[in-house]
Amino acid sequence: MLKKSMEKALNKQMNDEFASAYLYLSMASYFEDRNLKGLAHWMHAQTKEETEHGMKFFHYILDRGGKPILDEIGAPPSTWKSPLDAFQAVYAHEQKVTAGIHKLVDLATKEGDHPTHAFLQWFVTEQVEEEASADEVVQKLKMIGDMVPGIFMIDRELGQRNG
Ligand code: FEO
Repeated sequence: MLKKSMEKALNKQMNDEFASAYLYLSMASYFEDRNLKGLAHWMHAQTKEETEHGMKFFHYILDRGGKPILDEIGAPPSTWKSPLDAFQAVYAHEQKVTAGIHKLVDLATKEGDHPTHAFLQWFVTEQVEEEASADEVVQKLKMIGDMVPGIFMIDRELGQRNG
């Protein structure tokens, strides 16, 4: 059985994961609107992943005898200054998510909640990957700058993303 403090913290993270999905879906719309189908594809894949992350929390809370509580999700931005601006926002967002996961791990340690600590390890590893992949795109977009052929090249590259 989860302690109430842990259940509340897990619910917050579940909602943050669904809010991430909402943010990336908005970015998918931004890229679709600009006909950058590959970048949009990357965001759709990311949206799907974040929904899966939210569902992992949903089922874990249930498995431990808690109740998932869905909270409000605020409207995400609908536009960005450039693809670089959008991906810098992804990177900053993922750093915030990582901080949230680490805080949860700290709480699980403090409360001696070993199952939650074990459950969270998957997310600790996942966040390393999430930050690295967002930062890789940011660095490439910085090199590309305003060169249109470069934008089309990265659009094609990100369009290959599987899962
Ligand atoms: Fe589920 Fe991108 O953090």
